[in-house]
Amino acid sequence: MKKNISALIIAATLHSGLHAQSDFKLSEEQLYRPNFHFSPKKGWMNDPNGLYYKDNVYHLFFQYYPDGNKWGPMHWGHATSKDLVKWEEQPVALYPDDLGYIFSGSAVVDKNNTSGFGDSRNNPVVAIYTYHNTNREKDGKIDVESQGIAYSLDNSKTWTKHSANPVLKNPGIRDFRDPKVFWDAKIQQWIMVLAAQDRTHFYASKNLKDWIFQSEFGKDLGGHGGVWECPDLFPLKVEGSKEEKWVLIVNINPGGPNNGSAGQYFVGDFDGKTFKIDEHFTQQLQREKAAWLDWGKDNYASVSFDNAPQNKRVIIGWMSNWEYAQEVPTEVWRSSMTVAREVSLKKTKDGYILKNIPVAQLENYSERSIQKKINVKPENNLVGKSEIDLTKTVLDFDLKKMTAGTYRFTLKNTLEEELTFGIDNKRNELFIDRSKSGKTGFGNHYATSVTKAPLGRIYTNAKMKLVIDKTSIEIFFNDGEKVLTEIFFPNENFSELTLSTDTKGSTLSINAHQLNIR
Ligand code: FRU
Repeated sequence: MKKNISALIIAATLHSGLHAQSDFKLSEEQLYRPNFHFSPKKGWMNDPNGLYYKDNVYHLFFQYYPDGNKWGPMHWGHATSKDLVKWEEQPVALYPDDLGYIFSGSAVVDKNNTSGFGDSRNNPVVAIYTYHNTNREKDGKIDVESQGIAYSLDNSKTWTKHSANPVLKNPGIRDFRDPKVFWDAKIQQWIMVLAAQDRTHFYASKNLKDWIFQSEFGKDLGGHGGVWECPDLFPLKVEGSKEEKWVLIVNINPGGPNNGSAGQYFVGDFDGKTFKIDEHFTQQLQREKAAWLDWGKDNYASVSFDNAPQNKRVIIGWMSNWEYAQEVPTEVWRSSMTVAREVSLKKTKDGYILKNIPVAQLENYSERSIQKKINVKPENNLVGKSEIDLTKTVLDFDLKKMTAGTYRFTLKNTLEEELTFGIDNKRNELFIDRSKSGKTGFGNHYATSVTKAPLGRIYTNAKMKLVIDKTSIEIFFNDGEKVLTEIFFPNENFSELTLSTDTKGSTLSINAHQLNIR
């Protein structure tokens, strides 16, 4: 979170809550409420928490302040989905209590009732979260964060907090939070990965109640421009081989590749005690310093689902950035989540790439589609108003015979506002420029710096999948090898998409789907 949690706490105390509904808010609803990305009906939201799947339902919890549109006393909000696409908001799951605000964490399906919280009919779902104690903080104490647990026996309709919380006390580290827990089948125990300042700590437990410290990871490795938050650890098969590697995701704020908050990852091995980065990945880190899950400014706190079906590893991130999250121009609610994405691991001669692409279910909602193939000219109209509604779209681009120029795609409205993005094949980078995208006056870097992601070479063929909603774009380059996610706030929704280039001879195939998810 913010560099300074105390500043947020003071702001939250002073904050007066939501204002009455006005005409402006109706238009805000029409203009900015995402068509298909999850956003709460009202109030402030940040990180996704406690993602799990059970009995055919996906559960998404989230950092939530229902009574204001800025960060405040943290609850866990709740939403459910049958397919990871269409979400239904549920009543608040966890409320702050005497031990503190309920900060980020995870949830696990305790299939063997190791916790003993289950009864003869139901295995429990156990949530493991951070208590942030503002009273201790006001007293100037260091040990303000500890870990607590709660369980549900009715698929998250009701929760009971454990009577002996906290289950993991603070060892004297100021930032000590965001437990991500999973069952390590090999060693038959639970593992917790926890963010501790700018490291991760690993703990083990047989029953989710008693935790024993195992090891620490992260000194001098990867990005250290800010505090480490919301880690995740999971095994993944390397594409096209039998090799299995462990991936450690660590979110960092600030210190992202394009300023502010972002998610980095490490690839290595975990033996139930210690995480060691792979040699091949070490060389990659020597060249690149850090590996980024998403290069855009708006994908933070990505974590994965427990118990997802078919062994898939699915993540969701918070589509904002602590640099300006509390200032973006919505009043009734603030922020939304990314689409659910499936991750996979690719090994190349240069290292490992943690790819992520939208879950396939998204395209089940296609209500209209168009296909086109064009010979690329200097100026090209790609999608017009009457063809596809560009506020609820998935587009696939296939560029061929590319040359060393710039492929500049532009989303436009009739007010001459625009969001540009594309491939600079001279400088070998992807970019997003939101300097003319409408309301931009917040944060230090919201619109003043062009977002860039290095490509390392000239591409002659490239694919891009775009997921576009009213206020966000998610760009998946070459099957998710490079991803950029950003939000925007035009004064009228974008309705046209064009391409301008200074290159010759390229072709572009377009496959566009308009989605109907309401
Ligand atoms: C990340 C974060 C977490 C913390 C939560 C508080 O955005 O700062 O580290 O648990 O938000 O809302």
